[in-house]
Amino acid sequence: MKLKSSFVVLPLALMALSKSGALAQTVTIPIETNKNALVLEADDKHDLSTIYFGPKLADGKEYNHLSAAYGKDNDYTGLMASAYAPAGSRNLLEPAIAITHADGNQSLDLKYVSHKVDKVSDDVSLLSIVLKDQVYNTEVTLYYKSYFKDDVIEQWSTIRNGEKGTIVLNKFASADLYLKAGSFFLTQYHGDWAKEMRPETSQITHGIKTLDSKLGTRADLFQPPVFMVSMDKPATEDEGTVLYGSIEWSGNYRTDLELDPENNLRIISGINNYASAYQLKANESFTTPPFLSVLSANGKGEASRKLQHWARNYKLLDGNGSRLTLLNNWESTYFDFDETKLAALLKDTKKLGVDMFLLDDGWFGNKYPRNGDHSGLGDWQETKTKLPNGIASLVKGAGDNGVKFGIWIEPEMVNPKSELYEKHPDWVIKQPKRDEYYFRNQLVLDLANPTVQDFVYGIVDNLFTQNPALAYIKWDCNAVIYNAYSAYLKKDQSQFYVDYMKGLYNVLSRIRTKYPKVPMMLCSGGGGRVDYNALQYFTEFWPSDNTDPLERVFIQWEYSYFYPSIASSNHVTDWSKLPIKYRVDVASMGKLGFDIVISKLPENDLKFVQNAVTNFNGFKDVVWHGDQYRLLDPRENPVASVAYVNEAKTKAIMFNYLVNYRYDEGSKAPIRLKGLDPAKQYKVKEINLYPGTNSGVDENQTYTGDFLMKVGINPKVNSGRSSVVLQLDAQ
Ligand code: DGJ
Repeated sequence: MKLKSSFVVLPLALMALSKSGALAQTVTIPIETNKNALVLEADDKHDLSTIYFGPKLADGKEYNHLSAAYGKDNDYTGLMASAYAPAGSRNLLEPAIAITHADGNQSLDLKYVSHKVDKVSDDVSLLSIVLKDQVYNTEVTLYYKSYFKDDVIEQWSTIRNGEKGTIVLNKFASADLYLKAGSFFLTQYHGDWAKEMRPETSQITHGIKTLDSKLGTRADLFQPPVFMVSMDKPATEDEGTVLYGSIEWSGNYRTDLELDPENNLRIISGINNYASAYQLKANESFTTPPFLSVLSANGKGEASRKLQHWARNYKLLDGNGSRLTLLNNWESTYFDFDETKLAALLKDTKKLGVDMFLLDDGWFGNKYPRNGDHSGLGDWQETKTKLPNGIASLVKGAGDNGVKFGIWIEPEMVNPKSELYEKHPDWVIKQPKRDEYYFRNQLVLDLANPTVQDFVYGIVDNLFTQNPALAYIKWDCNAVIYNAYSAYLKKDQSQFYVDYMKGLYNVLSRIRTKYPKVPMMLCSGGGGRVDYNALQYFTEFWPSDNTDPLERVFIQWEYSYFYPSIASSNHVTDWSKLPIKYRVDVASMGKLGFDIVISKLPENDLKFVQNAVTNFNGFKDVVWHGDQYRLLDPRENPVASVAYVNEAKTKAIMFNYLVNYRYDEGSKAPIRLKGLDPAKQYKVKEINLYPGTNSGVDENQTYTGDFLMKVGINPKVNSGRSSVVLQLDAQ
């Protein structure tokens, strides 16, 4: 990281100690962003606590009054609000860090030593705070990276072993947050294949609520790491104080939300320490992945716009760039294709008007051809019987048709029925003395092993070296980890889950060093694997295998709280009987793709999709880079409505869908827009009209942003017009 300037805020804290060993004065450390302040304080005993997280104060000097204002009278540990609660000393609550020292002792008491702030850019600052145990040579540096404009804070820690022998990290969280409010409401998510991102909101009661994953890979299949905490009352779209949080880690994670005896909320989040005690040799250090949070006093909508903006600018690969629209062959051919079929699909890609053809699963394996999901995974050579002229001829064929070519891989996985498994059984995660147990007939490769990392890197590198014009990778990951055991790690099995993920990130960062921008989709048989650590390496993710557009209205709605639409790969498929228009409109709220048989489309359907692709190219910039406003919630209304507005407020796209098919349901009243310029005049036009149907809005009329935001416009959604897209252009 390049730091523009660096300065120590205070003289070395130890110099400020009085003779009694207490700090001469408390040290108050505010982290200010555009609207908020997270304030930490080291007291006279050098204990570092979080004393405030809320709207920033007009006069920064008044942060010094916070601890007196709130008091700590009933905290007889002195550590309830600890910025990084250590285990084994005075702490009586859930710790952020627990260590076994080289001599077997399990106590830790971290004291503030010093802090400094580095200015990374005009927008970004990095605060680091050094804490030290006074008995053992254990040092922890807490990092808080604040993004001023977006009110986002990332925090993590580095734990250093200064002892002579090996220590064991039994718990090593990234964040230990402390919130004060009258009551707290948690919105968490659960799911399964095709049922991703189902929200549940409940009041947090005393004790600990844990959100976690122990799946190893695709960790969030059951429970994604993202969550919201509303303060005092459940936040709505535009009202209420809400904090969004997520650990940036693609493996096992654990977030504990503990309502303490003082009625304050502790949020301790990090890598899951389940089966993962980590050894740290003398002089080694361990850096945890970042935990991110964004706080808004104006409801869920504002919090999500800040997070999406931050993601596009700082995290998601090529977040401000463009994306390729595509035709995928998975649902139209499954494993059953050959060169002739693909040649026709390349022509269809061109006919449809999208940028690229994406060849899915089933192109590899010779001794055990991948003609189904039971064999071939791991053998990344083209199946000669299906593709005698190889991928190279397909890439060329795509070019001849004026489209690009992308390819599917699942490089972390292996079928037992494969040459890879036969040659390298020791590369496979499995228990040596137990029966194998499969998820989709496959096992996971041991990325804790550097040789396996080289192999996985080589799959991607070979594809690009042999086919320099290859434009895209869909990186799938279907299996979870059963029978966790690495032949490579031998006796250090408790490092396995962490080392697997480090190995995966190592491969991805090598790929990105050599191929910095080539678009890659983070896929996982559904949205079982999306988080902000992985998204540094990927341009998009696959929210769900469930592409029924009615389901997608709900699934994409929930994902959008945390991830920008440019990252959401939405494909039009035949999962549902809903009209093609509904399917295309829903998929257009992100990165549009198709997985249908173009040659079988009725004439008007084909005309419609071709026109919709052209329209999409006209407004995609607004959907991908604009601000998203949720207007009508499908969980509360018969109609869902979502709008995207560009930064200049000159253009907006409003999507409206019928989600309740009971008699006479529809939009009965105007729907109020948000985010427009009240002073501007907007012309409203209905686009994506199915051939032969008429617009439901008066296109000769213009409206002020003021009118559209106070009164709104009725898209006239009903059972005959179940999906309506309106485009607003400032005049
Ligand atoms: C799961 C993915 O989600 C699908 O889109 C497809 O790529 C299959 N895997 C292929 O096996």
